[in-house]
Amino acid sequence: MSKPSNIEAGRGRGAGASVLEIRNPSDLDEVVGTYACATVAVVEEAFAAARLAQQEWWSFTLEQRSNVLESISRLIFARQAELAKIMSAEGGKTVPDALAEILRAGNIARFFAGEALRLAGEKLGSVRPGVDVEIAREPVGAVGLITPWNFPIAVPLWKIAPALAFGNAIIWKPSEKVPGTSTAIAEIMADAGLPAGVFNMVIGSGPDIGAAVVEHADAISFTGSSATGRKIAVRCAERLIRVQLEMGGKNPLVVLDDAEFQSAVNTAVNGAFFQAGQRCTASSRLIVTEGIHDRFAAALAEQVKGLRVGNAAESTTQIGPVIDQVQFDKVSRYIEIGRQQSGDILAGGGALTLPSRGWYIAPTLFSGTTNDQRINRDEVFGPVASIIRVKDYDEALFVANQTEYGLSAGICTTSSKLAKHFRTHVDAGMTMLNLPTAGVDYHVPFGGRKHSSYGPREQGQYAVEFYTTVKTSYLMV
Ligand code: UN1
Repeated sequence: MSKPSNIEAGRGRGAGASVLEIRNPSDLDEVVGTYACATVAVVEEAFAAARLAQQEWWSFTLEQRSNVLESISRLIFARQAELAKIMSAEGGKTVPDALAEILRAGNIARFFAGEALRLAGEKLGSVRPGVDVEIAREPVGAVGLITPWNFPIAVPLWKIAPALAFGNAIIWKPSEKVPGTSTAIAEIMADAGLPAGVFNMVIGSGPDIGAAVVEHADAISFTGSSATGRKIAVRCAERLIRVQLEMGGKNPLVVLDDAEFQSAVNTAVNGAFFQAGQRCTASSRLIVTEGIHDRFAAALAEQVKGLRVGNAAESTTQIGPVIDQVQFDKVSRYIEIGRQQSGDILAGGGALTLPSRGWYIAPTLFSGTTNDQRINRDEVFGPVASIIRVKDYDEALFVANQTEYGLSAGICTTSSKLAKHFRTHVDAGMTMLNLPTAGVDYHVPFGGRKHSSYGPREQGQYAVEFYTTVKTSYLMV
């Protein structure tokens, strides 16, 4: 079996291909690799190949498709140490964070190896005599998957695995900031026994390569910013193709007076600052009731100041750099805005100078902020969180819901009555009790409300909604 077109596409055949040079965000003197971008012509070729290959893939038996997913899972586990190194060097992820994400990705592939066998339909009677009705799920076709840099293997796998399990072909545009991880994933797909053309990777920027994918796909699944998601949704509506968007968050973590104190502090630190805050599920608004406020703010500030920021490859590092200059400038700008609007910085407050030249930002904690300030409205996507003081639970819930986003929302409390009330009334797709807003399981639906998500849910058994289309057959027997 020849290798799929993915590897060639990754090399950027065709006139006009440009080259990406990736530097290590923990040490800007190190060039991690150079990669060629695809061209629009390559995207078009990939779709032509995918449409043919999709027919063959759908004609495989359930077990053959399941076996390929099982192989993908095994190959991910087998290459975990090497993948973690690449992810750390090009993305600034600490090695334990990278390893956890790789295991998650391998487990997602294994979960969908099972789901491939369980693709179910329905059989009903008809309102007409002698007629039977069958409802079957079929693949959507050649789907376009557009994924971000912050989870460079888990987010791709939670789109790739269900797409393959249910018989689709794929054109995948990973973020151009993580071409090393993406190329390794493409190699894994090639080695797992997919027919040539079923999986195609096209590296490049959103405005040219991403747009070309949106122009040709039968469906688009996108994870990234709300601004880009909105543009994609508009174009998908014009093309009348289905679209699934996972976008930003401004996730509240409510801390009530009765919270278990140390666990609430740890939950806030983890949710707000781990992975340098570059998670759409990060707890960026810490909404704290007044009885616990001062003690909580002081303890949190102490713990944040103690976080070890450093080179992502070093085992002592807890928080790596942000990924690149674009992100560094954006986060620095928001710290400045926060400084002007709120004033109180309890920890951090800007760039950090370390022995190696990198995009380091000190974990920054604001206090005395109000929910209408920009640092509490816009997604910062960096190691920055702010405390909002409120009177009581009712005000906390009100503030938690005063946002255009609605991805994940957490509460720290020992009151089961208030926990239950919060779970019912908070306007978010995921709620967490005494847990960080970030860090989710891989076998249950992931997604939010309002400007955070659009379209059917990702992950778990709910993924079948997006990656299949329903056919109703009438049979006169
Ligand atoms: C998590 O918090 O475990 O881009 C996952 C993101 C999300 C994934 C978060 N799509 O941050």
